[in-house]
Amino acid sequence: MKIVLIGFMGSGKSRIGRQLAARLGWTHHDTDDMISKQVGIPVGDIIRQKGEAAFREVEKNAVSLVSLSDRSVISTGGGVPLNPSNMSELSKDAMIIWLKVSPETALKRAGNIKSRPLIDPNDPIGSIRKRMAERNPIYERAAQHTIESDNMESDHVVDKIMTLIPGRA
Ligand code: S3P
Repeated sequence: MKIVLIGFMGSGKSRIGRQLAARLGWTHHDTDDMISKQVGIPVGDIIRQKGEAAFREVEKNAVSLVSLSDRSVISTGGGVPLNPSNMSELSKDAMIIWLKVSPETALKRAGNIKSRPLIDPNDPIGSIRKRMAERNPIYERAAQHTIESDNMESDHVVDKIMTLIPGRA
């Protein structure tokens, strides 16, 4: 069984994934961390230096690898659900949870936008709104559960996810 967290940049997938895995005593995998370890530079630099298409290829390989794991929590990069084959691999014996946030929360939590090549530094909130409007229907279709986590502490989000896992409430 796997718990797969999807959602926009800054939705808390990495932090919540780490906390949830610790709570369950399961392994935590973070596709962005795997990729940056493998390539040796941060994911933002990979996109900037090699282009988004090249990054998506490496990301696909990371997804295939973590899809084989069991008793694991997987924090995905925000673009993982854009490729349907990623989601069909990740969905096997898995619960997919969308951490939904507003554009304002995404911007607040995204950290240094210089490290985020997919956010336009001249119009951060506008570019987030646009990309989020394109992606939300994809996240919605891919997920079995949605947690609106704008005003929720990460602990509380983890509590809520625990109630969704059979036998773990
Ligand atoms: C991306 C999100 C990032 C990272 C890359 C592309 C995206 O991950 O994978 O910069 O397309 O939304 P986080 O969602 O973990 O920030």
